[in-house]
Amino acid sequence: MREVSLLWGLRSPCNLGCRYCYFGTVEEHRTLPPAAAGALSHLSRSDLPLEQILAFTATLKDSPVQRVFLAGGEPLIWPPILDVIAAVKNAGVQVVVCTNGIPLNRPDLVAGLLERGVDAVSVSLDSADPVYNDTWRPARNGRDGWRQVIDGVTALLATRAACGAAGPKVGLYSVITRRNLPDITAVPALAAELGCDYAVPQPIALSGDHALHGELSLNGAHAAELTERFTALYGARLPLRLPPASYPGRVAAAVRQPTGRVKRCFGGTTLFFVEPDGSVWDCPSSLKITATPAERRRSIVGATATDLFTPTGCAADCGLFSVDCVNMWPLMGFDRLFTPAGAA
Ligand SMILES: C[S@@+](CC[C@H](N)C(=O)[O-])C[C@H]1O[C@@H](n2cnc3c(N)ncnc32)[C@H](O)[C@@H]1O
Ligand code: SF4
Repeated sequence: MREVSLLWGLRSPCNLGCRYCYFGTVEEHRTLPPAAAGALSHLSRSDLPLEQILAFTATLKDSPVQRVFLAGGEPLIWPPILDVIAAVKNAGVQVVVCTNGIPLNRPDLVAGLLERGVDAVSVSLDSADPVYNDTWRPARNGRDGWRQVIDGVTALLATRAACGAAGPKVGLYSVITRRNLPDITAVPALAAELGCDYAVPQPIALSGDHALHGELSLNGAHAAELTERFTALYGARLPLRLPPASYPGRVAAAVRQPTGRVKRCFGGTTLFFVEPDGSVWDCPSSLKITATPAERRRSIVGATATDLFTPTGCAADCGLFSVDCVNMWPLMGFDRLFTPAGAA
């Protein structure tokens, strides 16, 4: 049975330099390259070559993998991306592309995504306010930003409509910090105005020693406003899909108490994380990656999807809950985002 989702950080480079990015910043890594197991960097020199990626995607057919989220870095600035998407789709596996949206201004790329039958495109936009968004998600070329993201989403939706195609579904993902709580409602309202199919506001995940932790991370002091904003969002009955009604309460609980034990976690059972160098982890949580013993480290290189992802037992409890985990819930509930707004 196909029931596994892969979150695949396909490539390390990016055309933006978001200040809170999981991949860190190019500037800090030029002076201090990260060395820890699983550490991500936009400067990575170890991204797999296309041939090794295609050797792995050729094994997806008849494997337990149902859906692949292609992320990064920025997947859509890598020239062979459409070949990888075609290979995954040809294996009968759904593809969700996670992008910063700026490459969607290329008509050839948008046509290619439609032709290959991409199932969904999740576009990151943190705010309805261009200044806020571009402060935290600046482009490396100093020119692109909020306007180009909106133009890219508009182009994708217009091309889909012109083709009379049902897909891809298109959604906006926003990183919520203590500085943009009003965007919990404002970005989904903008998404609805643009004609998007779904919107997902996600809490920022930063380690306690991150330089921006004190400035951006949410904590118990923000839980009441967070809940109020989510209540307004769900009450607004926008014509698009949101995560399930249980999501806001779980986000608020995680922000209040970002530690604990998860019963029967999907990480390592129905969710896996693949890094640009091909490493396979149970999930993207830095706590979980650090706790993974060397003998349990795996790679897609020379392996098949069936060998790597066939469940070997029941989901295990995990004592390493952190705010990193919260952003996996919408991925695991993604079926819901494919159903029309208003359906149960
Ligand atoms: C790492 S990006 C890769 C795909 C693409 N470049 C993009 O920005 O959508 C995947 C998602 O993670 C989000 N993200 C990055 N760093 C984050 C952090 N520290 N906390 C929460 N979300 C984060 C991004 O905003 C984006 O929605
Ligand atoms: S666009 Fe995505 S990968 Fe690039 S810096 Fe921003 S969050 Fe990171």
